[in-house]
Amino acid sequence: MIKFTIITLFQEAIEPYLKSSMMWKATEKGLAEFDFVNLREFGLGPHKSVDDTPYGGGDGMLLRCEPVFAAIESVKAKDPDTKVILPTPVGELWTQKMAREFAFHSGLRPASHYIILCPHYEGYDERILSIVDYKVSLGKYVLTGGELPALIMIDSIVRLIPGVLGGEQSAEIESFSEGDNLEYPQYTRPEDFRGMKVPEVLLSGNHGEIARWREKHSGRVEIK
Ligand code: ADE
Repeated sequence: MIKFTIITLFQEAIEPYLKSSMMWKATEKGLAEFDFVNLREFGLGPHKSVDDTPYGGGDGMLLRCEPVFAAIESVKAKDPDTKVILPTPVGELWTQKMAREFAFHSGLRPASHYIILCPHYEGYDERILSIVDYKVSLGKYVLTGGELPALIMIDSIVRLIPGVLGGEQSAEIESFSEGDNLEYPQYTRPEDFRGMKVPEVLLSGNHGEIARWREKHSGRVEIK
């Protein structure tokens, strides 16, 4: 069982995805659990403010320490073992290897619980890093917040947990551990679509021939 507590101002942007398709199935099967903490609830003053202008000047607003620490501490008060992940463009680049480590780690223990702190807009007070365990970048581009990175991390971890996708799972983990993902062209019905025909060999029932054809036509996509 893996649990994610997502600290965000925009629960409504994240929740529909987690209630759909495989993430929902993982929840239904008791393999994953998703929880939300509304950062606004820990905001300061009558306006429940969570950000402020930067010292030294400059554009935009930064996430303040107090609401963030209070939100994280409220989760840790119930589960002290929780680790905190911060999506940030200056973090370590997210890879299949990291997804596997998070998924595998959760398989070793009865429960793993991660907090994903979603910053928004221009950034965060640097002192927030003192309460963060993993800084993760999803790519060399800048997004408006941590919500999309949170979903991508969660999806890529949860799909690897045995039982989420089904039988092919362990084989898939093996092929990823080689560092390569074998991708070959695949076809389903109809055999002939507007003159584009399914390769004869795939209809032959000859498993040896099919395996050789697939090997020959696979592009090796490096997924490390
Ligand atoms: N927040 C904004 N841009 C990001 C990125 N590329 N990866 C992770 N978090 C981000």
